[in-house]
Amino acid sequence: MSYVGAGKSNQAPLIDMRSDTVTQPTEGMRAAMLAAPVGDDVYGDDPTVNELQDRAARLLGKEAALFMASGTQSNLAAMLAHCQRGEEILCGADYHVFIDEAGGASVLGGIMFAPMAMNTDGSVAPETIKRTIKPDDEHCPISRMLSLENSWHGQVQPLSAITNAARCGHEHGLVVHLDGARMMNAVVRLGISPADLVADVDTVSLCLSKGLGAPVGTILAGPKSFIRRAHRIRKLVGGGMRQAGVLAAAGLYALDHHIDRLASDHDNALRLAEQLAAIPGVTANPAAVETNMVFVDFAEGAGVRLRDHLAAKGILIVADSDHVRLVTHLDCGVPEVDQFTAAVRDFFT
Ligand SMILES: Cc1ncc(COP(=O)(O)O)c(C=O)c1O
Repeated sequence: MSYVGAGKSNQAPLIDMRSDTVTQPTEGMRAAMLAAPVGDDVYGDDPTVNELQDRAARLLGKEAALFMASGTQSNLAAMLAHCQRGEEILCGADYHVFIDEAGGASVLGGIMFAPMAMNTDGSVAPETIKRTIKPDDEHCPISRMLSLENSWHGQVQPLSAITNAARCGHEHGLVVHLDGARMMNAVVRLGISPADLVADVDTVSLCLSKGLGAPVGTILAGPKSFIRRAHRIRKLVGGGMRQAGVLAAAGLYALDHHIDRLASDHDNALRLAEQLAAIPGVTANPAAVETNMVFVDFAEGAGVRLRDHLAAKGILIVADSDHVRLVTHLDCGVPEVDQFTAAVRDFFT
């Protein structure tokens, strides 16, 4: 699915439901960015980057953390730091690392992926993991890493699913990584601490620029020795940033102010699903909404026409087909949800 291009206009959209990555930094966040003390982070001199890394490591219960430019860069550094050429990463067949990151681990690291069947909540069963691990046989790639993802497409796996998968991976000698781009949505939904969610995985990637509302940045966390290797890889892929404290300040602000409020994004997504479910021509299932994403089906052939109809009103959705993902976020609250559903109702009636 392409998420690009629908918003090419000089005017800011009134409502943008394409993703939670589209948010504007809030006034408070911009003030924090303006006030941030900075230094050259390639020399390790940026106090705000250092503070964010220390704070994030503590929050995630890991030894160390590194500020990365994006989730893709963070997962890439993790995969390259964990695996060598000829080794393989087991992951869900529909996980971001496999589908949506340009095959970076294979392109740059000579690493293979072993995609696995997933449960509807995005988890992978231990039996599936066991079956996928290759024997110690010179014909096979060496199974080295298990990559998990939570939340996945707005669905939240219970802590037990992560624990069971991670334990299975560890028992078979795999290192376990969690792509936690939207893990805070899972944390809020499950009502547990971030450190509890990732206690059984070795390394974790957490995006600051999705529901948390920062303009840029992802945290990669894990053991000190892993972070040292990831630091070298960040340099290798051109990710050494200089006065990055202006960006890290936004990340610190997001950790302070934007985690608990994710609950209202989840409430608003439910509101959206309930309203849409009542419109003829729209199929939506409020019971399936767990975080800030709503998946809907529009009447056959209506998706693209609806997208264009809404765009003319300054409302953006991604609709290449009739199956559409809608996302609530900092800049899409109750008034936007109500305005959106009114426009959809108007289109179908
Ligand atoms: C689950 C998941 N992992 C990783 C990423 C990559 O993040 P970025 O767009 O910052 O590279 C995304 C982006 O949407 C994602 O949804």
